[in-house]
Amino acid sequence: MIVILDFGSQYSELIARRIRETQVYSEVLSYRTSIEQLRQLNPKGIILSGGPNSVYAQHAPACDPEIWNLGIPVLGVCYGMQLMVQQLGGQVEASDAAEYGKASLIIDDPTDLLTNVEDQTTMWMSHGDSVTALPEGFKVLAHTANTPQAAVAHHDRQLYGVQFHPEVVHSQGGQALICNFVYHICECEPTWTTEAFVEEAIREVRAKVGNKRVLLALSGGVDSSTLAFLLHKAIGDNLTCMFIDQGFMRKLEPERLIKLFRDQFHIPVEYVMARDRFLERLNGITDPEEKRKRIGHEFIQVFEEESRRLGPFDYLAQGTLYPDVIESADTNVDPATGERVAVKIKSHHNVGGLPKDLRFKLVEPLRKLFKDEVRKVGRSLGLPEEIVNRHPFPGPGLAIRIIGEVTAERLNILRDADLIVRQEVNRSGNYSEFWQAFAVLLPVRSVGVMGDQRTYAYPVVLRFVSSEDGMTADWSRAPYELLETISNRIVNEVKGVNRVAYDITSKPPGTIEWE
Ligand code: XMP
Repeated sequence: MIVILDFGSQYSELIARRIRETQVYSEVLSYRTSIEQLRQLNPKGIILSGGPNSVYAQHAPACDPEIWNLGIPVLGVCYGMQLMVQQLGGQVEASDAAEYGKASLIIDDPTDLLTNVEDQTTMWMSHGDSVTALPEGFKVLAHTANTPQAAVAHHDRQLYGVQFHPEVVHSQGGQALICNFVYHICECEPTWTTEAFVEEAIREVRAKVGNKRVLLALSGGVDSSTLAFLLHKAIGDNLTCMFIDQGFMRKLEPERLIKLFRDQFHIPVEYVMARDRFLERLNGITDPEEKRKRIGHEFIQVFEEESRRLGPFDYLAQGTLYPDVIESADTNVDPATGERVAVKIKSHHNVGGLPKDLRFKLVEPLRKLFKDEVRKVGRSLGLPEEIVNRHPFPGPGLAIRIIGEVTAERLNILRDADLIVRQEVNRSGNYSEFWQAFAVLLPVRSVGVMGDQRTYAYPVVLRFVSSEDGMTADWSRAPYELLETISNRIVNEVKGVNRVAYDITSKPPGTIEWE
């Protein structure tokens, strides 16, 4: 295993993902992880992440300097390198010319860390401070025009530092450098494979759960579906999947999901029809937060009633993923006060989720995985592409895409419009180009003309975005032909809609969903 100590970089998770791409397991831990803990974990290598601070700031985060004496190879990235240099007696100063963006890296020493990295290559920089004097025993491996010490090493002690970010996609040769560190310097074996994960997860689940019964709330998304496959493989009929139909899913999706699971995958699903209850709860409600709250509460109520009816259960399966459990993001320090501030804006939207104080014990076999790894696991277990590659869909579903009051009539309008969007996006072959592509129904009406008749009906807004993780997003430059077809079909086929608009707002300042 490779441990990444997080100093508050927005790229710490990305480093972990890059390491895992080399089939070596990695974990992100706080920079405050003690030496004893590190010794216990016994990683093959340690990477110190970048961070937003200056190593000379009064409350700059620092690791225990004993780390340099563990005999474990260390790679410091950006802030991590500066910290290494400072703690070992070198010098770090504010640079005259800060470097942001692509920089041309010239290699001075192509041995170990930089093997297979081209002599002159592009690496991505983002720093205001620079190393100005190296500690004893260190040498320069590479430089750029503005940074004479862009990569450094103490070969005997296996301590390495790079000022640039090898983990970002703009760094050519970045992955080669990471492979060199992982395989040649740390001597890791490529054992982190999907097959190995599945085998171990099944073993662990069996050991933990034994003959006890497990309840899983299936949503049809890739996480809960993968979880269902994995658990069914591990414990068979001791798993009960429950699907609560709130009535806010896309047209025909509940039926399709149940059919797939029952008939094709042979995993039984308890279908709970709760459409009327949810709709009743939303009667007259227009405030977005109130809608979300009510849907959340109703979900919990139905879930509790149904689990009592079907139970008793000992365990509840949850699709918690690694980004939810990483202990980080408390590393950013306000230099004026020394107080820790959260720079990461992470909104947990799981209003459809469950409260922590339910009486179940939890089983969370996906908690080590990133989303792309869940997809690989799902695929290897036989989950079809239509689920593996499905766009994200919010827990409260179409209810938060109907602005204003949610009624049965307006749900039908949006379902029909949304189906056309899905059909045409699929047909165009552009599905995977978009992070999400969906329709929103507005409560205002506008005038139009159809045949020789005046119409006065609702507009539908198309929201197509590209994104890496949903935290930020850009509006998609969807092909005009696709938009034209969708628009024509919606105004012709969906009664109650006479206008289609396209949302050209990125996130921020907009959000992806309209509510
Ligand atoms: P926003 O609208 O905040 O959405 O830009 C970011 C991503 O999160 C999804 N989303 C949700 N997912 N339950 C979920 O499981 C929710 O309540 C929820 N609200 C938004 C949204 O679709 C986008 O992918």
